[in-house]
Amino acid sequence: FIPPKEVGEDGSIIAKDINGNIIPASQILAEPPGTRALVAGLAGEPTYLTIREDGTLHPWGIADNCTHLGCTFPWNPNDDQFQCPCHGSRYDPEGRVVRGPAPLPLQLAHVNVEGNYIRISPWTETDPRTGKKPWWI
Ligand code: FES
Repeated sequence: FIPPKEVGEDGSIIAKDINGNIIPASQILAEPPGTRALVAGLAGEPTYLTIREDGTLHPWGIADNCTHLGCTFPWNPNDDQFQCPCHGSRYDPEGRVVRGPAPLPLQLAHVNVEGNYIRISPWTETDPRTGKKPWWI
């Protein structure tokens, strides 16, 4: 057993559960398509991973941190939205604001499967949803 390098030179980390245990990629990928799996991401921030229809992970992780006042929020599969319980903000599946008061899209991170681990890395380039520099840089 060779443990993965937990912190990469680019600031990346290996996804863990809330107890700090590394989550095998196989465990996440065994979930049905459409699942949003919450893991501990960069700086321990809860981060949603999305299982796509083809059973692979979406390369964008989405921070579970509302851009209004920072509440965490659930995924609502019936409405296909992240819905913040604090003041009613809603986000589409890729984290764009559908309804305020949230002012900004949800923060992204890169998600890559490495062997049986999931690596989460800082997103520093253009936000593909806005075509602009990420607001979190
Ligand atoms: Fe989410 Fe206010 S913190 S809507």
